[in-house]
Amino acid sequence: MDKKAKILVVDDEDRNLRLMKLLLTSFGYDVLTASNGGEALEKVHDIPPDVILLDIMMPQIDGLQVARQLKREEETKIIPIVMVTALNEVEDRVKALEAGADDFLSKPVDKIELRARVQSLVMVKACNDHMRNYQKELEAEVAKRTEQLRQALKKLKEVSLESICHLCRAAEYRDENTGDHIKRMSRYASAVARKMGLNKQTVEDFLYTAPMHDAGKIGIPDHILLKSGKLNDKEWQIMKQHTIIGAQILAGSGAKFIKLAQTIALTHHEKWDGSGYPKGLKGPKIPLVGRIAAIADVFDALTSKRPYRMKPFSLEEAFNYIKKERGRHFDPKVVDAFFAAKDEILLIRESDNDNNLLRDGLKIEKRKQCSASHTSLHIPFALNLSKGERYRMAPFMVRHVHQERIVKRCLMHYSNMSIKVDHKM
Ligand SMILES: [Fe+2]
Repeated sequence: MDKKAKILVVDDEDRNLRLMKLLLTSFGYDVLTASNGGEALEKVHDIPPDVILLDIMMPQIDGLQVARQLKREEETKIIPIVMVTALNEVEDRVKALEAGADDFLSKPVDKIELRARVQSLVMVKACNDHMRNYQKELEAEVAKRTEQLRQALKKLKEVSLESICHLCRAAEYRDENTGDHIKRMSRYASAVARKMGLNKQTVEDFLYTAPMHDAGKIGIPDHILLKSGKLNDKEWQIMKQHTIIGAQILAGSGAKFIKLAQTIALTHHEKWDGSGYPKGLKGPKIPLVGRIAAIADVFDALTSKRPYRMKPFSLEEAFNYIKKERGRHFDPKVVDAFFAAKDEILLIRESDNDNNLLRDGLKIEKRKQCSASHTSLHIPFALNLSKGERYRMAPFMVRHVHQERIVKRCLMHYSNMSIKVDHKM
């Protein structure tokens, strides 16, 4: 045995305690003693023993109460208890067993019997400890591996989705000089899906699947895709094929969200009244995700620069158009959800404008070969802050110049007041 086993002896008679301590020490054990039930419970919690020799007849808390208490608690229930008693009636022994005793010793204690019983129970306790530790180690290892697997899957998902977004952005780039459309459109769609009461997973899936709605445009020739004027009939027929090409590109996947992306790619130009394409589906025959993607796509198209239109619709004009198309282009329930999500949609649009403005503002500073701290001094200046306030704000602006909303708002103000933003830079 590497370490001495600890034996707790509990007896209210000092003579018995001393005798037991002497014997057990001679057997090679560490011996703790307690002269009453309360002290015994305290010692068990402070220094958990390997075996307890417990006198039954004690004042206040007797041995039976101590045993019951220890066997109730998770941490102490595996400690073997030997009842040491002068009571030899069967009824008394049954009571002790019911209280949780693992063995008995009769008073006066026989030295050889004491040694044999304690030795046996110490081995049982060591075995139980080993099993318990092994189980804990096993549980910790399983938890660790599960967490590693969860992290690996999360990373894999992030990388997969990021790759998809970059590929979609590459396809979109040919069309609109920017990948921002797919980002905004997917956030609008997700907001509408949430208002329609779709489950959390589908709402999140929209963020990753809607960006693929125009993946099929990669198969449309440049002279049609980039044409600034109106398409003729033949060109329009080819342009409409982007829905089918997109669905073909995304076909054959076993992944649920790619299937969702395929449905969106195929049906985002279908119209509620059946006048859409490619299949002319009508009403609820159009998958709901396609109906939601349609409204998000159209709203963003209306409010963004496009090669075929002189200038974007104002927000009011775009909202009026959506209202006008309720029950024609769009599912009435989706239109209702869209307007229920209006505040969130405006926030998405505004934050995207802010991002562009921040980017434009930083480009201005780059052009002027100024540092971020220079920007940070200009912005408060544009807000008519006093010199002291400007300098107090400077460190904050430098620290947060890339992320804080206040900076974006300041830049918006700044650009309106003092510098003409060059969007072409
Ligand atoms: Fe499209």
